[in-house]
Amino acid sequence: MLVLAIETSCDETSAAVLRVKLGPEVLSNIVLSQDEVHAPYGGVVPELASRQHIKTITAIVGEALSQAGVGLGEIDLYAVTQGPGLIGSLLVGLSFAKGLAYYHKKPLIGVDHLEAHLEACFLENPGIEFPVLGLLVSGGHTALYLMEEPLAYRLLGRTRDDAAGEALDKIAKFLGLEYPGGPVIEKLGRSGDPRAFPFAVPRTKDRSLDFSFSGLKTAALKHIRENGLARDDARLPDFLASFEEIVARTLVGHVRSAADQVQPKTLILCGGVARNARLRARFQEFAREAGLRACVPSPKMCTDNAAMVGAVALKKFARRPGPAPDLDLDAYARFNGRRSG
Ligand code: KG4
Ligand code: ZN
Repeated sequence: MLVLAIETSCDETSAAVLRVKLGPEVLSNIVLSQDEVHAPYGGVVPELASRQHIKTITAIVGEALSQAGVGLGEIDLYAVTQGPGLIGSLLVGLSFAKGLAYYHKKPLIGVDHLEAHLEACFLENPGIEFPVLGLLVSGGHTALYLMEEPLAYRLLGRTRDDAAGEALDKIAKFLGLEYPGGPVIEKLGRSGDPRAFPFAVPRTKDRSLDFSFSGLKTAALKHIRENGLARDDARLPDFLASFEEIVARTLVGHVRSAADQVQPKTLILCGGVARNARLRARFQEFAREAGLRACVPSPKMCTDNAAMVGAVALKKFARRPGPAPDLDLDAYARFNGRRSG
């Protein structure tokens, strides 16, 4: 069985081919980033993102097929990200996938982007034990999930304002650093002292598992203004290391509180910000301390890619095979708690 998956939810155009024998095997996973297109604006420009997807999607799908050594006629199942994301960008991938599925008379499965991020862990780590506590940290979302079984997600907490990645991106933009900010902060902050600038771990008033990064962002802006920090300042590595550290500690603090409540067997960390070495280290430290297995995808699987989309689709299809392409599938822009299974 072969699946062709497409992901265009934000600013990466991606296509992947997966084969299932016993478990899923990634034959190709092509990702074309639009960073260069959006960098001059310091953030993603939605209209430019969808136009760029239109320009590149045919070539990216072609490359995924040729790297996998398969032809379109051999594909048994199509998978595509349905949402949440930028609506124009999502529609490019969705329409493209619908066209292929309709023409080849094959099933098409719509996949939730957040489910796909969580699935990246399962794809790379077979045999994960449930219950699983998953922390998803990306540019658009920060959320904690409890999974008691495959494809079943209970939202335990989510951000009330900025996502963690968004906070990193905004601070980088304010300092005149490149987009996306997360990797730049990581690079420049590597040599810095994470204790140099004081930050307090934010708490939501009701002690819920929801996150809030707006207070940290304000505290960071205050440090920047009070110390006159700028791009080339010698204290910048210390400041960036301190900010990165507090973001990582805040995220892991929530994992700790949630783990106390739900007693998981496995912890997973996923989403673009999960590429961050400091966050990975804090997360692993906590897992060791709590005696839990920790799973973090390889860096390439953390950021948006189509392989994780294909992996969800395969699980859904195994559970509920459908013969015809679902041409009524619609994209959705916002996180809406929609859950499948
Ligand atoms: O999951 P993703 O590729 O896209 C969304 O679904 O949002 O995540 C993108 C986010 C951006 O905010 C980017 O700054 C952040 O992931 N990111 C990082 C690193 N690499 C990407 N943040 C911190 N450290 C990194 N190494
Ligand atoms: Zn994502």
